[in-house]
Amino acid sequence: MEKLIIKGGQPLHGEVCISGAKNAVVAILCAVLLVDGEVTIENIPDISDVRVLIDMIETLGAKVTRLDISTYKIDCSNLSTYVADVEKSKKMRASYYLIGALLGRMGRAHVPPPGGCNFGTRPIDQHIKGFESLGCKVDIRNGIIEADGAELRGGQVYLDVVSVGATINIMLAAALAPGNTVMENAAKEPHVVDVANFLNSMGANIRGAGTDVIKIKGVEKLHGGTYAVIPDQIEAGTYMFATAATRGDVLIKNVIPKHMEAVSAKFVEMGIEVWEGDDEIRVVANKPLNKVNVKTLPYPGFPTDLQPPMVALLATVDGTSIVTEGVWDNRYQYTAELDKMGCRITVDGRVAVIEGGRQLQGAQVKATDLRAGACMVIAALAATGVTEITELRHIDRGYERIVEKLSALGADIKRIDE
Ligand code: EPZ
Repeated sequence: MEKLIIKGGQPLHGEVCISGAKNAVVAILCAVLLVDGEVTIENIPDISDVRVLIDMIETLGAKVTRLDISTYKIDCSNLSTYVADVEKSKKMRASYYLIGALLGRMGRAHVPPPGGCNFGTRPIDQHIKGFESLGCKVDIRNGIIEADGAELRGGQVYLDVVSVGATINIMLAAALAPGNTVMENAAKEPHVVDVANFLNSMGANIRGAGTDVIKIKGVEKLHGGTYAVIPDQIEAGTYMFATAATRGDVLIKNVIPKHMEAVSAKFVEMGIEVWEGDDEIRVVANKPLNKVNVKTLPYPGFPTDLQPPMVALLATVDGTSIVTEGVWDNRYQYTAELDKMGCRITVDGRVAVIEGGRQLQGAQVKATDLRAGACMVIAALAATGVTEITELRHIDRGYERIVEKLSALGADIKRIDE
């Protein structure tokens, strides 16, 4: 069994460079299926979700060549099937993007319901509603989502909830659909904009990404080209929280400071210094910190994916802080693991009350999902004594070279295989 062993108590110091955005790249690796030509994608993080997705698009007929650690050439001129692999699809949430991409390119898609982190129910009704608005028929037979896009064309879509996945999936299905699509109440996350920018740089006609109305004029064909993925907003945030929780001083490089505004504003409220450069942020936490209340919301609100790291930080701050989860029904399962480290957290539905300021103690804990894993790492870095973290497959899905990056910041962290 693999474990992270972390001896806490060292303030983090130095510089860390952020990798390409997982949640953009998992969509772009599906969007390449729409391109009848050769695409080169740069700044792809070396994480397990990327490996699974590359394997999946290869089974659909994509020819993938790795040019260097973070650059891939992908040729989707000759796709061979619209049927996605069942076992691989279940490993990750983003496999749902294969539906939109295959519909757009092949006119049909057979894709199993997605897997991914467990935060209670994770419906995809808005994706399906969007495909139907574009003229598709969608059925679920024998546990497989079967989408028939023989009559795919532009249409009007109003999303009942702000959904990142539905916004991107509908964009993928509409990029090559004849006519105009208008999507209202769209998600505005940086990765939504990045996918639109990728598609536009390959010849699509998508306007309004980053606002709540996206307009897509279907084009006949997408051509090849080169594209670099944006830096990972959530990985950057994770290092900001690790710095603050250890009362450190770290320069976080290769970030888009605008994407971090909700976090930076909360940090300032807490008494943490945040210095913004063009593509870097320095976080300095050398004074006693203030408790705060936080509610997660769709972008530009405070990101739900940084809610677990925020809870770990607040556990180190004197006083009672309240965190409200505004996106997912059940995203506090990890707090039982934090309790093992001496945290005092009471959860009632979407609200967590954190009685902070107790010294965290090393313990044996597990990563219950991807960002919960990041939360455990942050808590371990701030704790006295040694913490052992298991279930590392969750962390591996989204954090590139986390041991190396934290070690370079002075953390006492190692990965062992027992
Ligand atoms: C994306 O998930 C991210 N995943 C998640 O990050 C992130 O937590 C989430 O967006 C919110 O920011 C990827 O990008 C691969 P949603 P997604 O559709 O698209 C409800 C991480 O840690 N909803 O925006 O699946 C849903 O239940 C992962 O990197 C419907 O009701 O999330 C939720 O309450 C975890 N019907 C809300 O909308 C639908 O059809 C937002 O979900 C779709 C969603």
